[in-house]
Amino acid sequence: MSVHSSASVKRITTHILQEMKNRGEKISMLTAYDFSMAKIVDDAGIDIILVGDSASNVMAGHETTLPITLDQMIYHASSVVRAVSRAFVVVDIPFGSYQGNSTEALRSAIRIMKESGAHAIKVEGGAEIKESVVRILSAGVPVMGHLGLTPQSIYKFGTYSVRAKEESEAQKLLEDAKILEECGCFAIVLEKIPAKLAKKVAETVSIPVIGIGAGGNVDGQVLVVHDLLGITQEFKPRFLRQYADLQSIMLEAFGNYIKDVKSRDFPNEKESY
Ligand code: KIV
Repeated sequence: MSVHSSASVKRITTHILQEMKNRGEKISMLTAYDFSMAKIVDDAGIDIILVGDSASNVMAGHETTLPITLDQMIYHASSVVRAVSRAFVVVDIPFGSYQGNSTEALRSAIRIMKESGAHAIKVEGGAEIKESVVRILSAGVPVMGHLGLTPQSIYKFGTYSVRAKEESEAQKLLEDAKILEECGCFAIVLEKIPAKLAKKVAETVSIPVIGIGAGGNVDGQVLVVHDLLGITQEFKPRFLRQYADLQSIMLEAFGNYIKDVKSRDFPNEKESY
C-alpha cells in the first residue's frame, strides 16, 4: 500500500477521515444493521459503517424510513458495534427523535452513544435543525449531516426523484452545507443531487462529503449493502452499481435445501449422530 492510504490504520476516526479528504483519498462507506453482515463489511476494510434508518426498509419491510424507532436503531447499532474492529460506526437518529426539539435531540444522541457504543450520529437537514446539531456537538458527540434527498421528509417532497435541480434549492443546499460545517459536523452525506452541485459543495466545505447518487467528484461514496449485493432486486436506481446477485444465489441454495429435505437426501448418515 502507498503512504497515501488509510489501509494500515487500526481504527478509523473523524481525524483520519479528515486527513483522507485533505490528501484526496476517497472514503468508502456502506450500511450494515446486524452483527454478521457488519463483521464481513468491516473485514473487507470499509472506512465507515452507517447503521442507516434504511433498516426500516431493508430489515423491517416498511415503505419508508419513518416508522423505525430509537430503540430499534439502538438494537441494530449495538449489534453492528459488537462486530466491528476498524470501521467508524455512524448511526442515524430516527425520524421524530430530534426534529424541532434540541433537548430531545441531545437525549436521543446520548442514548445512541451510551447504549450502542457507536462513534457518531447522523441527522437529516440543514438550517432548520441547527440548534439540535449544536447541542449534540456540545456534548462531544460527532455529527454527520445529510442533505439533498432526505428520506425522513419523503412526504414533504412527494417523490424520491433527484433534488436541488432548481437554482433556489441548490443555493439553499450549499448554504446548509456551510452551516453544518460551521456548527462542527465532521462530514456530510449528499443524496441524489446533480453531480455538478455535489462537486461544488465538496470544493466549498473543508469537511468530507460522501455521496449517494451525487456523482464522483465528492470525497467518498455510500451505498445500502443489500442493494450493492443484489439482495433487494426491486430497487435499481441509476446511481446503484450492483456488485453481486445474491438474490439468485440465495434462491438457488434455498431451493436445493428444500429439494433435499423433501427427497430425504438431507441429512445423510455423515450429517447425523
Ligand atoms: O439510511 C441510509 O441508509 C442512509 C444512506 C442512504 C445514506 O441514510
